[in-house]
Amino acid sequence: MPRLIFPFFSLFFLSLAVFAQDTIKVGEFASLTGGTASFGQASHKGTLLAIEELNAAGGVLGKKLQLITEDDQSQAGQPATIVQKLIAQDKVVAILGEVASSKSLEAAPICQQNKIPMISPASTNPKVTETGDYIFRVCFIDPFQGTVMAKFALSKGWKRVALLTDVKQDYSIGLAEFFVKYFTTHGGEIVKEQKFSSGDKDFKPQLTSLKAAKPDAIFIPGYYGEVALIGKQAVLLGIKAPLLGGDGWIGESLLKVAGKSLDGSYVSTHFFDQDPNPVVQTFVQKYRARYPGETPDDMAALGYDSAMILAAAMQRAGTTDSAALRDAIAATKNHAGITGSITLDEKRNASKSAVILTIENGAFKFEQSVAP
Ligand code: PHE
Repeated sequence: MPRLIFPFFSLFFLSLAVFAQDTIKVGEFASLTGGTASFGQASHKGTLLAIEELNAAGGVLGKKLQLITEDDQSQAGQPATIVQKLIAQDKVVAILGEVASSKSLEAAPICQQNKIPMISPASTNPKVTETGDYIFRVCFIDPFQGTVMAKFALSKGWKRVALLTDVKQDYSIGLAEFFVKYFTTHGGEIVKEQKFSSGDKDFKPQLTSLKAAKPDAIFIPGYYGEVALIGKQAVLLGIKAPLLGGDGWIGESLLKVAGKSLDGSYVSTHFFDQDPNPVVQTFVQKYRARYPGETPDDMAALGYDSAMILAAAMQRAGTTDSAALRDAIAATKNHAGITGSITLDEKRNASKSAVILTIENGAFKFEQSVAP
């Protein structure tokens, strides 16, 4: 090797070795592409913003955090492969993800078996954290969200509600179940139920059948891609009943595709970018500075909160060793998150307020906040 090049190379490898030693590796799996790309794009951007902020302030335990992100392409089967790789190959100390409950449910058993703490930013299906004591989330769960929307429907005097659920998503099936449970035990009646599968484009047969049952409202616990098309087709079919949904409606393309066809609908969710709370507004500004032209949504805010909770737990534990880190995450109390104060309960869930938004003129508008 020529003499001049050798010192250069050895320096290069030395600095690589130092870098590798001095970082704490955190894995992330997210749907950066595919049917729920909005979920992964937003949660990743929020997560990355938190990691960059932490590193700019000196890192954690004297080391920089290294976020290793993998795209699960919104496809079943991918989360398991990715999480295996993050644990076995990259040797991450913890994993952040996913948004969609079915994806988190796939990865959780692997994290649990390997005793690698996993924090889901936004999966609301109760089964996610029931997987085991290494699995956490920083959002509320669907028994709460379903009850919030059932109470809301009853408060509006809508006693005859129809259901349209996505059979491919644990989220949708669960949320429908929890809605129905509260609704039908408090004076409401489900007048008709129809189903679809993620990826479907034509919902007219289901909507025609629901319309015939003359419901006061239609509850659709789906994801934004399908819901946008459902909204448009409901208008075409002359459906006047308000549509109700949950956090899954939130996605960048929802209102772009639906236009004004979802006007008069109501959804429950975690966060609203126009919330005057200074914590929210500071976050919105930081996010816009980092990602020009973009506004953070629920997944971005929850992604940010998940990374900050993990870092705070590492700091408190004084180590990234699996058991100690797990215990520290479990002990999270009154963490001042963007999405509210976060305390993890004994089931590793966060009990937090939900926000109900309505859609007017093709835009979201604050309706009310509902405490747990
Ligand atoms: N709660 C949804 C699920 O469990 C995911 C989601 C969260 C979607 C927040 C949008 C906003 O699948």
